[in-house]
Amino acid sequence: MFHSIQGMFRLNHFHDIIECLAAALEAKDLYTSGHSTRVGDMSFDLARAMGLKGSELDNIHIAAHLHDIGKMGIPENILNKRGKLLPHEWAEIQRHPEIGYKILAKSKGLQKIAEIVLHHHERWDGSGYPHGLRWDRIPLGSRIIGVTDAIDAITSVRPYRKAMSWEECWEELLTNKGIQFDPVAVETSEKLWKRWEVRWQEFQKDSKEVKLRAFR
Ligand SMILES: [Fe+2]
Ligand SMILES: [Fe+2]
Repeated sequence: MFHSIQGMFRLNHFHDIIECLAAALEAKDLYTSGHSTRVGDMSFDLARAMGLKGSELDNIHIAAHLHDIGKMGIPENILNKRGKLLPHEWAEIQRHPEIGYKILAKSKGLQKIAEIVLHHHERWDGSGYPHGLRWDRIPLGSRIIGVTDAIDAITSVRPYRKAMSWEECWEELLTNKGIQFDPVAVETSEKLWKRWEVRWQEFQKDSKEVKLRAFR
């Protein structure tokens, strides 16, 4: 009896705790509001559509919600800088996957999640960081987050550029398929594209309403 209640507690609250951790980062990083949630949701869909299930699917889902948690360790003046980053500032930002790995790897049970986070900026052709891994040497979860992270970045406004449309984003994915992105992850994304676009529009509507309410 005790175990089943404890199990229910875990199931109901674990995902909430993960989202709170990601929200703590977003309170510090002004430009990524909602980013972790959207990348978490899209990565779950994509991993499932690629046939993953059970603990492998859960690990990718959690890693996606927490993929940028290492930005907690980056100074705010760099994280929130408007305009172009200087080379040493860019090098500082690029430390976030390793910082995230160190935070998560403190817990033995989160080792696999830590590794997915460590490699989320690797690229299919080996030109990414931190280790320059390529092809299937990159953990599958990291390759999935590589695609969904890029989709959310491309379709979001940044201080220095407008958001691209979902059509333009798809073109961008196709151009970089087999270069930056795992080709199978890109092909599988096509089946989910409409659902993601609709969800994104709902998210935009909700965040506008929250902003309006805050001014009342
Ligand atoms: Fe990142
Ligand atoms: Fe990200």
